[in-house]
Amino acid sequence: MLDHFKNKVVWITGASSGIGKALAIELDQKTTTLILSARNQDALEAVASKIHHATTFVLPLDLADSSNFEEKVHTVVSKFNRVDILINNGGISQRAEVRDTTEEVERHIMNVNYFGNIALSKALLPVMTQQKSGQLVIMSSIAGKFGFFLRSAYSDSKHALHGYYESLRLEEEKNGILVTLVCPGKINTPISKNALTGDGSHHDKMDNNQKNGMPAKACAKAILKGIAKKKMEILVGGKEIKAVKLKRLLPAIFHKVIKKQSPN
Ligand SMILES: NC(=O)c1ccc[n+]([C@@H]2O[C@H](COP(=O)([O-])OP(=O)(O)OC[C@H]3O[C@@H](n4cnc5c(N)ncnc54)[C@H](OP(=O)(O)O)[C@@H]3O)[C@@H](O)[C@H]2O)c1
Repeated sequence: MLDHFKNKVVWITGASSGIGKALAIELDQKTTTLILSARNQDALEAVASKIHHATTFVLPLDLADSSNFEEKVHTVVSKFNRVDILINNGGISQRAEVRDTTEEVERHIMNVNYFGNIALSKALLPVMTQQKSGQLVIMSSIAGKFGFFLRSAYSDSKHALHGYYESLRLEEEKNGILVTLVCPGKINTPISKNALTGDGSHHDKMDNNQKNGMPAKACAKAILKGIAKKKMEILVGGKEIKAVKLKRLLPAIFHKVIKKQSPN
């Protein structure tokens, strides 16, 4: 696993909190250069201050605004010449029923989780093509495998990532570009606090599903292991991830089980 990250330039979005922050800290001793992106520059600087071995570069960006992504890629490439791994992790969740969610909120979640995500990968494709190598690591969710209460827009944004990147994987394999889709279950991060309610305000609560979820550090370790193995898909979390297989094999039983689960 160490070899996979050795002398690599790794770019992480959503690096200011939760899984992205844990990935950056876990990568510190494994890789050479870490580019840390999210909106909150102070929080990114705080993460960078915990990195003692790798070179860090804080590069704020907003996934809801892809107009400057080519410029961001240019900044990174002029500084480090290459990007070996993009961990496209930044995202926002939802805590509201369909009937209570405005179209504006649905479009915002889609912009951040899907359009922002694919735009950054696309801006980086020419660089990886020139290198004849690269790995796009895409943070989906088990909600990218099945719908769930209060997550309609979130779940659709994550499902969309699978269709897009499974296609891109087929197209880009010949150019040495790999795709790893990551589907975490319940992970202990502030994601529920940052999630949007139907009117766009923050849910602002630490849900039990998160409070009792897998620690972000353990999640990050499992994800890095899967990235190093060049896995096409990584499922990570507690027993909830078994629901993915259950849906595939026994969809009717899956429905009976999933509807009894707590939304929070
Ligand atoms: N925690 C879970 O249970 C779980 C389960 C499945 C999947 N995931 C996925 O894992 C990823 C990370 O989530 P997390 O659990 O670590 O949650 P988190 O602690 O809330 O972190 C989310 C990260 O995304 C960034 N972000 C949000 N909106 C952004 C925007 N418009 N532009 C740029 N960055 C933005 C945030 O930074 P700023 O606010 O500084 O921009 C933050 O760094 C997400 O894609 C999420 O869907 C999480």
